[in-house]
Amino acid sequence: MTAPAIRHYLQFSDFTADEYAYLFERAAFIKARFKAYEKHQPLTDRTLALIFEKASTRTRVSFEAGMYQLGGSVVHLTTGDSQLGRSEPIDDSAKVISRMVDLVMIRTFEQAKIEAFAAASRVPVINGLTNEFHPCQILADLFTFIEHRGSIKGKTVAWVGDGNNMANTWLQAAEILDFTVHVSTPSGYEVDQDVAGIRSADSYKVFKDPMDACRGADLVTTDVWTSMGYEAENEARRKAFADWCVDEEMMRVAQPDALFMHCLPAHRGEEVQAEVIDGPQSVVWDEAENRLHAQKALMEFLLLGRIA
Ligand code: CP
Ligand code: NVA
Repeated sequence: MTAPAIRHYLQFSDFTADEYAYLFERAAFIKARFKAYEKHQPLTDRTLALIFEKASTRTRVSFEAGMYQLGGSVVHLTTGDSQLGRSEPIDDSAKVISRMVDLVMIRTFEQAKIEAFAAASRVPVINGLTNEFHPCQILADLFTFIEHRGSIKGKTVAWVGDGNNMANTWLQAAEILDFTVHVSTPSGYEVDQDVAGIRSADSYKVFKDPMDACRGADLVTTDVWTSMGYEAENEARRKAFADWCVDEEMMRVAQPDALFMHCLPAHRGEEVQAEVIDGPQSVVWDEAENRLHAQKALMEFLLLGRIA
């Protein structure tokens, strides 16, 4: 018998629109069971390795709690407490770890590192954030949008801030799920279509002024001015990003029912005003919770495929 091909989730474009439709439905099903205190344990005896080379709260808790809730267990590794921090070659680490567990999630720096790990892995690998992408976050963000507003097809998402891993992943999602991203970044921090890995510029528009990006948007979203790994640029970024703070004025020019999202952690008074993130249009707590449900659907899909 031939084993089914391994699927990895290294960037948003690894799945099709049809697979996302399945995942969003499945996440809703899994969430409903969780809320009703019903057991859902399709991954009994499966083990997930969580590898963190950068800090995390949401990603760690959602994957760790999620895997236990699915009936499996978790091994947690960081650069500091494993041979990963002592220069063991990445493919040697991948060969060893993937002989002992069923699934691996990695949060690291360069995308090339997770690609190298996946190439040598016997088991599916999930991107828990790299410098270039954060697909699990956008999976949860889209699930949250759908819960609140229905399909995102044809809608407009305003991205205000850094042309970073989150922005790149939104661009990939727009291309696959057929919506538009209005991007406004300070100059020098633009998105790069090649890094974002998208085929064309059809699904996004660039705006100099963040107010123009927000005009008519169905969802306004932002992220920290300085992502992990870029701390040395902190001072320069504080100056460059001063006008890229999502405030009530920006929310006023968006659609009256526009949502606000932020992947968190947030800095009130920097990339977002407290009145916005703590205001009535913000769905950041649902967004954070939905990491749990969306990733449970993802792990189930990677290990068991579609459940009829
Ligand atoms: N949004 C997100 O990935 O949060 P953590 O860095 O806390 O995992
Ligand atoms: N862009 C941020 C997201 C944190 C969840 C970072 O990479 O640090």
